Amino acid sequence: MTIDPRIAAAVNGENGEAEKAGTRSCLMNRRSFLLTGGIATTVMMIGIPGLAAAQTPAVVATYPRKFITKLSDLKVDEPFDFEYPDEGQYAESILVKLGKEAGGGLGPDKDVVAFNYTCTHQGGPLQGTYQAADKALGPCPLHLTTFDLTRHGIFISGQAYQSLPQVLMELDGDDIYAVGMFGLIYGRFDNLQG
Ligand code: FES
Repeated sequence: MTIDPRIAAAVNGENGEAEKAGTRSCLMNRRSFLLTGGIATTVMMIGIPGLAAAQTPAVVATYPRKFITKLSDLKVDEPFDFEYPDEGQYAESILVKLGKEAGGGLGPDKDVVAFNYTCTHQGGPLQGTYQAADKALGPCPLHLTTFDLTRHGIFISGQAYQSLPQVLMELDGDDIYAVGMFGLIYGRFDNLQG
């Protein structure tokens, strides 16, 4: 199995200043990043700095590679909506060029990120809630959770306690492909399918 470089970067905590500056950014424990040939879903532990005991499992799932859009078509703070990993329920996602380096960011500026639109609390729809000023998604219309898109979708405020699932991407020339998910999509029973 080939490990996506962004997965490796996330695991190794090599996502740049955006993460280093944050006090609540996600850090992956590389010893817990277990990949076994033929298994497309990986469970690893996430620790939150300052909360040493707070280690919770996270999941990286590899789904079929899907073309999303072209890098050259993106404009800063203009979200592009797409569906991933399929056209099923809760698949709606946002891709956005933040104009600021982000954890898992794609492209020369490491600022292109993508996330599932479904709130991890109780499935509230986050479509249309992108906040350019804060590089955040939310507040959720149900219970007001807001997620930080520069730091792997970690919650900033509100009721949710899990980060927004981040779409893992690859850049092939000018073409952006989705290749997997980091985190579980709310409401989907097939998250763990390889
Ligand atoms: S469903 Fe989004 S905060 Fe509750």
